[in-house]
Amino acid sequence: MSNGIEQREQWGSRMGFIFAAAGSAVGLGNIWKFPYMVGANGGGAFVVIYLAIVFTIGVSVMLAEFAIGRNAGLNAVGSFKKIKGGAWPLVGWMGVIAGFLILSFYGVVAGWTLAYMVKSFTGLIAIAAEGKAGDAFGAFVSNPTQVILWQAIFMLMTIWIVYKGIGSGIEQYCKWMMPGLFLILLILIVRSVTLEGAGKGLEFYLKPDFSKVHGGVFLAALGQGFFSLSLGMGCMITYGSYLSKKEVLPSAAVTVSFLDTCVAFLAGLVIFPAVFAFGVEPGAGPGLTFITLPSVFAKMPGGMIWSALFFFLLFLAAITSAISLLEVCVAYFKDELGWSRPKATWILGLVIFLLGVPSALSLGGHIPQVAGKDFLDAVDFVSSNVLLPLGGIFISLFVGWVWLDGAEKEITNNGTIPFGFMTAWVWICRIVAPVAIAYIFFSGLKW
Ligand code: PHE
Repeated sequence: MSNGIEQREQWGSRMGFIFAAAGSAVGLGNIWKFPYMVGANGGGAFVVIYLAIVFTIGVSVMLAEFAIGRNAGLNAVGSFKKIKGGAWPLVGWMGVIAGFLILSFYGVVAGWTLAYMVKSFTGLIAIAAEGKAGDAFGAFVSNPTQVILWQAIFMLMTIWIVYKGIGSGIEQYCKWMMPGLFLILLILIVRSVTLEGAGKGLEFYLKPDFSKVHGGVFLAALGQGFFSLSLGMGCMITYGSYLSKKEVLPSAAVTVSFLDTCVAFLAGLVIFPAVFAFGVEPGAGPGLTFITLPSVFAKMPGGMIWSALFFFLLFLAAITSAISLLEVCVAYFKDELGWSRPKATWILGLVIFLLGVPSALSLGGHIPQVAGKDFLDAVDFVSSNVLLPLGGIFISLFVGWVWLDGAEKEITNNGTIPFGFMTAWVWICRIVAPVAIAYIFFSGLKW
């Protein structure tokens, strides 16, 4: 337990907190995963389902997390312990474990973005112009030294920011990285939608195709929503724990969810118009980002610059999320085990890096598959499709049934600010969210 003498760190300003929380939410999930999920799952039909899930269940669970964290002023495990105890801290525990797992493979893919940023200037575009972007990607991910080196560089940067603390580390960096990310996104959108033939891409991206919508699509939207909003694992509990008692929680939850959804949606406006304008087949999965897009950039005048800018965008998105994942783990070791921030940051950062090495090696076939999935995909599946939804169910049930009075007080700042959606929020947490998550979870849980 913390000794209580040292004052807990706090966000310097509301803006700083919003940028940090949005930074956590906006990540590889938005730019790397969302667009191809839309393309593969019925275009506009998926977008509608996604929006519905995010702005009912997503915002509600985020608000619940903020309330738990700010009330207790502790990490995910400590918060449940302090508010209720019993078996509830296990929910926080699951979150800390998810933090370790997600960051382990996240750091790998984020490392690729750094590598590709540099490669944009050192031959990637020329290779892509010869139609060999796929071979280049294959060669890169099968090169153990390369992938581990870039993963290590990325993890070191993540460790550095978290080591600097909440106000002068995470907040400080997010405050310029997030506006930078938006600016780059806008520049890339303008470039992409003004290409000749961009309209076909917009059609592929957004034209609703309800024939593709089945049970699995709801699971995909929900899993993606949870992952994208950084929910279900105590990330927003941890960030909420550094919030001042004066902050208004509901508007913060809506703002963060809105920013996250905007970036995901806008990323598709960068990718698909460009892909279709140059008549490239839109690939699926990581291939879309690391194979298809370099081929697209190769066809643009100034391709190197566009490519570097795009991968820099991905890197910014990734690092502001990675620091939040590490912070969940660091906050736990700090609050509960009394470790200092430097000790927790370095040791946990190193452990997570090592945990990620099998993921880093898995795409090159250096690591056996796990039941037919690459190791990286298996870790992604377990954390995103199992741990996060389970966490979401328990967090909703906790505020809806176990700690409702306390949660209501926390959300209204002790009855001093109105919250018009209280009844809706309560019933979403009590019934809608747990039932929807459980239903979708069980019906669509396919390995
Ligand atoms: N939200 C991040 C993304 O979309 C990933 C993330 C998940 C970060 C969970 C923190 C916690 O990439």
